[in-house]
Amino acid sequence: MTKIKISEAVQAPSCPVIVNASVLRKIGNTPIIPIRSLGKEFPDVEIYAKAEWRNAGGSVKARPALQMIEDGEASGELTHDKIILDSTSGNTGVAYALIGKIKGYRVKLVMPANAVKDRKGQMADFYGAEIVTSSPFEGSDGAIILAREIYENNRDIYFMPDQYNNPSNWKAHYLHTAPEIWKQTDGRVTHFCAGIGTGGTIMGNSRRLRELNPKIKCYAVEPAEELHGIEGLKHMGSSIVPGIYDESTLDGKISVATEKSYDMVATLEKEEGILVGHSSAAAMVAALELAKQIKKGVIVTVFPDSCDTCYINFGKFKESVETHHLPPKTDS
Ligand SMILES: Cc1ncc(COP(=O)(O)O)c(C=O)c1O
Repeated sequence: MTKIKISEAVQAPSCPVIVNASVLRKIGNTPIIPIRSLGKEFPDVEIYAKAEWRNAGGSVKARPALQMIEDGEASGELTHDKIILDSTSGNTGVAYALIGKIKGYRVKLVMPANAVKDRKGQMADFYGAEIVTSSPFEGSDGAIILAREIYENNRDIYFMPDQYNNPSNWKAHYLHTAPEIWKQTDGRVTHFCAGIGTGGTIMGNSRRLRELNPKIKCYAVEPAEELHGIEGLKHMGSSIVPGIYDESTLDGKISVATEKSYDMVATLEKEEGILVGHSSAAAMVAALELAKQIKKGVIVTVFPDSCDTCYINFGKFKESVETHHLPPKTDS
């Protein structure tokens, strides 16, 4: 059996059991990983991925969650008698729950019923958040609508960050992620692409990167199908379009088929030794698509979270365990 090299930057998502304020310092300043093997047919293109699962809470969403909460505190809208309420399909919920626990806020999360059963739903619960379920058939839009109803019925007791419409969401990336990318590539980045969920990652990074160099081209990555299986991403044509998402300011959109992103999860593991989730794999497919088109340049993309349940769901878990955790078989 061949032993596969695991990149230095790759680890399981952090799930701190002892929660204290220093955990908040583990949000941001994530490593950038060079993707060496997958882009080798494009020798004049460098591809890098921001390893966002290295944030406390295990995903890119820790950045906007912290920014929205701290901006709420600064404006006086969030006080300790209020409950943080929002809709989420997982990653943002874990981030709110973790940050809320550290800062001493109660957190109420509205999630599609099917999301509650997975590890992210369980982690949010583990951090002490109250979870309200919306219809499993209505996806993230059903959760958005129910969260809004709960808020409207009792506005005084809730602070609703409303990640889909809150400028602090994209500002987290404008203020932190983009400057990190600029520094980590020595200002050489020429192209940026990222998946769209709320749109915070693509909007904040593209705005700041273009201020630093107006020639940088920025692309949103979206699922090709209306009914897709790429967790965390939205098919804009058939969804409630987030208020913070402004497609007109981007250079284009790259559509990725669910099946291609699933295959890419396995390819990234085999070729690069990186275990990431489906939206990261979709971003990788898009980065390679871009590489094919541009032939020369420095592409940066974002890997929002790690592999979590995808291996279990798609029969890869056993293979992953055998590859990474068991001692190599001997011939005797
Ligand atoms: C796994 C995953 N990928 C991508 C995204 C998209 O990020 P954004 O909301 O910044 O558009 C999310 C957002 O929730 C996510 O959870």
